[in-house]
Amino acid sequence: ISVQQGLLFAKPLPYDDEQKGLDTQITIHLSHVVAENTPKGQAANKFAELVEEKTNGKVKVHVYSNSSLFNDENEFQALQKGEVEMIIPTFSKMTAYVPNWQVLDLPFLFNTNEEVKEVLTGSIGEQLVNELEPFHIKGLGFWYNGFKHLTSVEQPIHNFEDLQGLRVRTMPSKTLEKQFEVVKATPIPISFSEVFSDLEKHAIDAQENTASNIYSKGFYKVQKHMTITQHGILGYAVLMNETFWNSLPIKIQHQLLDAMKETTDWQFEQAELMNEQDMDKLKQLDDFDVYTMSPQERQRFKEQLAPVYDFYRAHIQNDQILAEIEKIV
Ligand code: LMR
Repeated sequence: ISVQQGLLFAKPLPYDDEQKGLDTQITIHLSHVVAENTPKGQAANKFAELVEEKTNGKVKVHVYSNSSLFNDENEFQALQKGEVEMIIPTFSKMTAYVPNWQVLDLPFLFNTNEEVKEVLTGSIGEQLVNELEPFHIKGLGFWYNGFKHLTSVEQPIHNFEDLQGLRVRTMPSKTLEKQFEVVKATPIPISFSEVFSDLEKHAIDAQENTASNIYSKGFYKVQKHMTITQHGILGYAVLMNETFWNSLPIKIQHQLLDAMKETTDWQFEQAELMNEQDMDKLKQLDDFDVYTMSPQERQRFKEQLAPVYDFYRAHIQNDQILAEIEKIV
């Protein structure tokens, strides 16, 4: 793996002298944790294609999927150290650094993909990205996957009571952990790369994810049940090492932002399509039962999770962002 090559390019290039910087071949190593055939995997590849096209090959983006370069536990540190130029973690995984981003983890906050797009790509998304400033990380914006559902190894989940006593894998976000504590389940925060084997070993009983992540990682091979709940959303922060960003000639920075904008527009639609297709494939599997939670049970689940909002408000200094989102949803 050419992580060391990445470090070479982290050296500052002449910021104010565009021409000099433009003669150099620039490589961006982009690391992510999911399969290629997913909303994030496809968006990363599309971004790589567009960057190469817009910079006439001056910038090449090497995409490393499936945690092959870094995983959930070490990718943010690697980005800060400049061992990799770009990562695309879920916003939930960034909440240890940016607690306000937990607002996006609140259950039953969003109703449609359109609402999510408006929040993530509008002024609220911009405010959230600005929270990265103290970390010297360049936030390029947000991408989206879709709504999360529940899957379980043995026991079907038809109502929130069925979650009681289950060990449920979650991403590391206090709000997500609280969500499972409120229904008397035990949240277990582990890396995405370990979910399949922990399900297989029965070290966990259930997990929450989108149809595309469940299908592409083959979670259905080690579980019997899925419940369509649409209880939360899954999305991503597209992050770049700030020293590297600042080293780029301004013209190239603009080309990268153009590529980012084009990829973002494309990926919201693509994510919706992929989740629909993967949900259909999951429904067609023989040994895997896909159950849709009834509207009544969904409403009870939502009401039961109300304390998660109290928890969020008590722990977040500025809950203004939630008020702004509530004007949209
Ligand atoms: C997970 O960790 O469950 C997923 O969110 C992974 C991802 O990046 O989509």
